[in-house]
Amino acid sequence: CGIVGYVGPRDSQDILLAGLARLEYRGYDSAGIALIDGDGSLHSAKKAGKLARLRDELLSHPIAAGTTGIGHTRWATHGGPTDVNAHPHLADDDRLAVIHNGIIENFAELKAELIAEGHAFRSETDTEVAAVLLGREYRAHGSDLVAAFRAVARRLEGAFTLLAMHQDHPGLVVGARRNSPLVIGLGDGENFLGSDVAAFVEHTRRAVAIGQDQIVAITPDGVTVTDFDGAEVESSPFEVMWDASAAEKGGWSSFMAKEVAEEPEAVANTMRGRVQDGQIVIPELDGMDELFAGVSRIVIVAAGTAAYAGLVGKYAIEQWTRIPVEVELAHEFRYRDPIVGPDTLVISISQSGETMDTLMAVKEAARLGAKTLSICNTQGATIPRESDAIVYTHAGPEVAVASTKAFVAQITALYLFALHVARIRGTLSPETQAEQIAELSALPAKIQWVLDNEQERIEQFAHWMADTRSVLFLGRHVGYPIALEGALKLKELSYIHAEGFAAGELKHGPIALIEPGQPVFVIVPSPSDSPVLHSKVVSNIQEIRARGARVIAIAETGDAAVLPHADEVLRVPLAAPLFAPILAVVPLHIFAMGLANAKGLDVDQPRNLAKSVTVE
Ligand code: G6P
Repeated sequence: CGIVGYVGPRDSQDILLAGLARLEYRGYDSAGIALIDGDGSLHSAKKAGKLARLRDELLSHPIAAGTTGIGHTRWATHGGPTDVNAHPHLADDDRLAVIHNGIIENFAELKAELIAEGHAFRSETDTEVAAVLLGREYRAHGSDLVAAFRAVARRLEGAFTLLAMHQDHPGLVVGARRNSPLVIGLGDGENFLGSDVAAFVEHTRRAVAIGQDQIVAITPDGVTVTDFDGAEVESSPFEVMWDASAAEKGGWSSFMAKEVAEEPEAVANTMRGRVQDGQIVIPELDGMDELFAGVSRIVIVAAGTAAYAGLVGKYAIEQWTRIPVEVELAHEFRYRDPIVGPDTLVISISQSGETMDTLMAVKEAARLGAKTLSICNTQGATIPRESDAIVYTHAGPEVAVASTKAFVAQITALYLFALHVARIRGTLSPETQAEQIAELSALPAKIQWVLDNEQERIEQFAHWMADTRSVLFLGRHVGYPIALEGALKLKELSYIHAEGFAAGELKHGPIALIEPGQPVFVIVPSPSDSPVLHSKVVSNIQEIRARGARVIAIAETGDAAVLPHADEVLRVPLAAPLFAPILAVVPLHIFAMGLANAKGLDVDQPRNLAKSVTVE
């Protein structure tokens, strides 16, 4: 869910709607706002569906203008996406409004307690329980909203970002957070709250990340942050490194089109300043050489596309550092009593830095004594804050729900890290090290080549395939995670059944799926750099073609050997084997986007998904 709050002299409705538009990628099942007008009355509007429906509602049934307000865009957890279940939820005779992101785990118990006291409920949500509880505490605390809010925060279990305002207190918005994000935007005579800085970056780039179990109260002239017991806590402002235009579509047809086009830049910016005089320099990791020299095992935890970046990273980290690496889905890692300890480095990968599954895995790893490193694209996010070390990817804000440019940036960051550790451990000769750095540095131009030379053709090809019901993806070695990513992207964007397989596994089952006309993308390794793998993959292609598959090969320019075996060849420039996946994934991103476009689907906001999943 996305959350925004405003206090200041301006009309809050415009600010809230603009903020919600920037946060819509966090959920778009329903949206709502509440504000306090000049006469001190609270008004609210909420609507199931995307934000546009709330806008329509506000046009046909306008609410009074106000200068204090909160807004919410929802990804449903408790209760379906209906008007009633949309936020804000009101209590205290509709004088109090509450919005929420997360899941309140003890809501049933609290609800029973409140019902027994005679309180009534309108929705099925856990949020309304918090609202009604806040109304009760507000009265119990002599109309002190902040004190009441603290009392509520102490009673809640689970994950929450909560924002509240009361019509008795115009010019005050109160927020609380546990395991769910909330950031303050510091303005001049006005202040903001948001799930992330995108909510307010067009108004201010000065921000403060709120820590775990903290409460914030904003008024037009000030910001107070305390813990749940009321003790003031120090908070340090940071400057947002990008401006509002970076999170705008510009002239692009979709955010995804823009973000795919930014893949070269995402790699280049992630490397920027980190290669000096032919050496990897990662200032954020200064003072950690001893740690990296000593670790005996690395576990990578992540979810979705980020996990596939981790799978790619495993090959390079193992090859260059000789440290064994396991990659595990964060939610599986967290609940299987994992064996990690002080000699384990747990690397989390997350674009948003807020994915609850990943956050919980990091916390569990830390609890078990492991060292934690976060690879993250979002400054001040929760996961980096909870980690011992951070390597930021500098892909810039990613808005389209399905991740693209962050993926290539994540692999880049993992490679930089691996080369850094290889130098510390002396596992690569200076020459090999230099060769790898040169390969890495050449990637942005090579990705650009794919965009310039193949994009149009791939899009056209996707158009022809718009009626396809199922697509398979095959790869070996680093091509395997790329096959998984190609399939995921297609599922997410075009709702077509898609599966990725390790090409070698094909004959052990998946080959039964092949029937005449079945499209299969095959990521073909380099014939010169990986001759053995190349010939194995060509054999796999023959096996499926013999059964009628329609083969679309992704192969390097100059690989003529693959031509007789493929129905279609998509070209990528030559790169050393470990670097090839960063190129091979680009046609797959373009294809998934092109096919969704051909079907007339919303590529930025696919159904049922959210970009930042802050519930487990
Ligand atoms: C969601 C998104 C995916 C993303 C995954 C991990 O499921 O829809 O695109 O890969 O979360 O997100 P993260 O922010 O942790 O990288």
